[in-house]
Amino acid sequence: MTHRPDASAAPDAATLSNSRFLKALRREPVDATPIWLMRQAGRYMAEYRALREKRTILELIKTPELAVEVTLQPIRAFELDAAIIFADILPLLAGMGLGLEFVQGEGPLLHNPVRSAADVERLTVRPPEEALPFTLEAIRLARQALDPLGVPLIGFSGAPFTLAAYAVEGGSSRSHERTKALMMGDPQTWQRLMEKLAEAVGQYLKAQAGAGAHALQVFDSWAGQLSPADYRTHVQPYSRRAIAIAKEAGAPVIHFGTDTAGFLEDMRDAGGDAIGVDWRIDLAQAWERLGDGVAVQGNLDPAALLAPWEALRARAQAVLDQAAGRPGHIFNLGHGVFKTTPPDNVKRLAEFVHAATQR
Ligand code: CP3
Repeated sequence: MTHRPDASAAPDAATLSNSRFLKALRREPVDATPIWLMRQAGRYMAEYRALREKRTILELIKTPELAVEVTLQPIRAFELDAAIIFADILPLLAGMGLGLEFVQGEGPLLHNPVRSAADVERLTVRPPEEALPFTLEAIRLARQALDPLGVPLIGFSGAPFTLAAYAVEGGSSRSHERTKALMMGDPQTWQRLMEKLAEAVGQYLKAQAGAGAHALQVFDSWAGQLSPADYRTHVQPYSRRAIAIAKEAGAPVIHFGTDTAGFLEDMRDAGGDAIGVDWRIDLAQAWERLGDGVAVQGNLDPAALLAPWEALRARAQAVLDQAAGRPGHIFNLGHGVFKTTPPDNVKRLAEFVHAATQR
């Protein structure tokens, strides 16, 4: 089987819309199950570490030519069916007025976290071309490089809740105490914060589609920290609003979260052409609950990529068995690639998913 069958033909917009990935998002039959991996670009690749050696991650993100180069690295190395623009969810918060820094070995820091109504008021929602011009330019440049390869491009944003968690905590957190304290203790301020984030996220996603992204993924990485009732009351309306604005540009949306088994139907009802699920729920069970109105993305445990090939292959096969050839499966991990992942396992995984699902 030839990978990327459209690649020889100088693909135009029409052939790209026939790519496996975009077809699967429309739940159409495909010649083989498409695969891409969250965090497919990054430190597990020597090519990335080489570029990153002399620069910070923010320099890579803010220099469109370098962001495009990193976007292409996993596309050149592996049989992946979609590229994801190299960026991060946190520059959006910087664009709203928070100071952002990635501290080596410590993760992200947001310098003036949002803890009060006054803090929420000083957050600004600016046009994306003003707040995040570098990623929109990277998308335009990436399309020029990817179109001849026949590989579609994914744009992305954090979801309002996951961004609120970083904005309130001032960085990464295990328990999200401050975030929940604000949500539960001052629901009015929470609502105002989430309204601003929904608007900023929606406009940013819409602008990415306008710049050329074929599909958009919303990362609600920390939604699973919430009770189903809190998700429904304090998160779902804002995810729904952000996705509705994003959809104005016409591109399909993948709505991803981790640990979402407690409120999967509510997450689906917030919107998204595809729902991304992690390994804490069986894919078949998730699919049954989601119904056949959405595509399903997932859900291999990223730790499986650290195992010897035979063990990895068996776990990848188990995911495919649960998908059972239903149209609309997009193979992915349940969360991002670990930086200790052997690149050869990514290579073999992508080849295996294509070979094992050839139709
Ligand atoms: O998927 C891709 O290849 C695109 C790139 C991408 C990055 N971040 C680059 C990155 C994507 C899709 C993200 C999303 C992101 N960023 C999320 C949502 C997805 C998830 O994993 O839940 C979150 C929560 C973030 C926030 C973030 N960015 C953290 C917590 C960190 C530090 C973690 C660490 O390992 O240091 C980052 C930094 C970051 N973003 C790296 C990369 C490749 C680390 C790279 C580096 O330091 O060079």
